[in-house]
Amino acid sequence: MKAYTIHEAGGVENLRVEELPAPLVGEEDVLIQVKAIGINPIDVKTRSGKGLFNLLKNESPLILGWDVAGVIVETGKRVTRVRKGDEVFGMINFPGHGKAYAEYVAAPASHLAVKPANISFPEAAASSLAALTAWQALHAFSPVQKGQRVLVHAAAGGVGHFAVQMAKTMDAWVAGTSSSKNKDFILSLGADVHIDYEAAPLRTQTRDVDFVLDTIGGSTIDSSLEVMKKGAVIVSIPSGSNEMVAEKAKAAGMQGHTFKVSSNGSDMRSIADLLTKGALKPHVSHIFSFQEMRDAHDRMETGRTRGKLIVSVP
Ligand SMILES: NC(=O)c1ccc[n+]([C@@H]2O[C@H](COP(=O)([O-])OP(=O)(O)OC[C@H]3O[C@@H](n4cnc5c(N)ncnc54)[C@H](OP(=O)(O)O)[C@@H]3O)[C@@H](O)[C@H]2O)c1
Repeated sequence: MKAYTIHEAGGVENLRVEELPAPLVGEEDVLIQVKAIGINPIDVKTRSGKGLFNLLKNESPLILGWDVAGVIVETGKRVTRVRKGDEVFGMINFPGHGKAYAEYVAAPASHLAVKPANISFPEAAASSLAALTAWQALHAFSPVQKGQRVLVHAAAGGVGHFAVQMAKTMDAWVAGTSSSKNKDFILSLGADVHIDYEAAPLRTQTRDVDFVLDTIGGSTIDSSLEVMKKGAVIVSIPSGSNEMVAEKAKAAGMQGHTFKVSSNGSDMRSIADLLTKGALKPHVSHIFSFQEMRDAHDRMETGRTRGKLIVSVP
């Protein structure tokens, strides 16, 4: 099979296609013929030596990627929930070695859900790591309640565009931040209010927030605390720029949490339910071919992606 490997950290030129044997399937695993791969900021960070690179650097070969959608072609002895021929999607082995940038991927069946019939393989791959992050962050600490005021930063991005839609299904009032070019997109997701982070300080644009999903870190934590109610919750996901969130929130009389997504088939099934009902719609802004993996990384690295970037596998 063809797979993208990296042998050292660095630029996109280090992503190389190699011919490798198809992966072995453990008793609890399935072998997926991959149809679509989701690209995430963590892929780019890890490729360049940050992210999970230190954890994975001794893996040989190191195959990047965690998000896949595809068809099961083989099942391990102890797999009962899914069968050969099922179309599935999910985030594999995160945080660990996902090996998603390949024509075939061995995945624990417990990390997957059956792909809803009403969405495509690219849409399913799009609804894995980013959707799971939004889902778990909204539920992990103090689940958002009906009528609460929720602020989602980077609401046009991979995680944010799912978080806005999920918070609306929880009957919250939702504000989402972006630059002005994404205003209509964010309102089309169901957000009640758009906040242009370039136009004016956050404190002049909203107040009395109950729950913040911080996807930016750094000074965004400070500006968010200024608009939160006493006792409100901020969940911050960009590791490397959010380590002080708990301390800063506590000093302000609020609750701050860092958060890391983890593979979970049960949560994937909750996401699949929302997708089936049409309550959640992934936005795929571009589908790259398998040969264009380096272009997909270049695009992801701009930090300006609307929704998700996908690589299709022939
Ligand atoms: N801890 C975890 O488990 C976890 C999981 C997933 C992601 N993450 C991290 O969370 C971050 C976001 O991930 P993502 O996949 O959503 O990224 P993404 O899709 O690359 O986000 C792109 C979006 O960010 C917006 N943006 C950029 N700067 C902004 C700012 N200052 N204020 C508001 N919006 C801004 C852009 O909108 P404009 O063009 O309009 O500015 C763009 O639409 C990344 O650092 C990622 O590594 C962590």
